[in-house]
Amino acid sequence: MVMVHLRVLTARDWPLWREVRVAALSEAPHAFKAGLAEWHNGGEERWRERLAMPATYSIVAFLDGQTVGMAAGLPGDGGVCELRSVWVSPQARGRRVGDQLIAAVEGWARQRGAMTLKLAVLPGNEPAVALYQRNGFVDTETLGELLSDGVTRERLMVKVLR
Ligand SMILES: CC(C)(COP(=O)(O)OP(=O)(O)OC[C@H]1O[C@@H](n2cnc3c(N)ncnc32)[C@H](O)[C@@H]1OP(=O)(O)O)[C@@H](O)C(=O)NCCC(=O)NCCS
Repeated sequence: MVMVHLRVLTARDWPLWREVRVAALSEAPHAFKAGLAEWHNGGEERWRERLAMPATYSIVAFLDGQTVGMAAGLPGDGGVCELRSVWVSPQARGRRVGDQLIAAVEGWARQRGAMTLKLAVLPGNEPAVALYQRNGFVDTETLGELLSDGVTRERLMVKVLR
């Protein structure tokens, strides 16, 4: 395990978020539902809006001054928060950076008094599922959102926080 520096972003940090998110969507398009094109079509304004969303938590991981990962927490209804946008750069993989990103988002959710942290993962993304299972997430009965093929659904996982 390598300890990374986690930076919590503010609304003004949207260019950094965009830089790392574009790297993530370019490197691992198979892992994310929203594609790069979708974000680019929204222009700069969409990135600004994303980082200005109230009560959200956006973090970037640094290792030796280089960005090596990211994750986000979004508030939801009924004591549920959502873990989103988890990515670790290929050169930093296998060193438990994902665990540290998840722990930070979980800490944020607990501080907000959340009862549950939920996430959606695309079926077949086994490295991500293994990471989530190791961090205490389990499958739910709830059907995930239908994907563009009209057949496959997102796999929903939850972790009860208290
Ligand atoms: C899923 C992901 C976040 C895991 O991050 P991570 O910090 O590397 O997680 P881990 O350190 O637990 O490593 C995961 C596994 O990758 C293996 N691994 C080691 N080196 C690796 C490398 N260079 N590349 C890929 N996997 C590697 C490790 O053996 C580890 O398996 P183990 O649990 O049996 O040891 C990362 O693979 C990733 O960003 N993938 C693409 C984006 C993605 O899928 N995001 C999730 C969307 S829901």
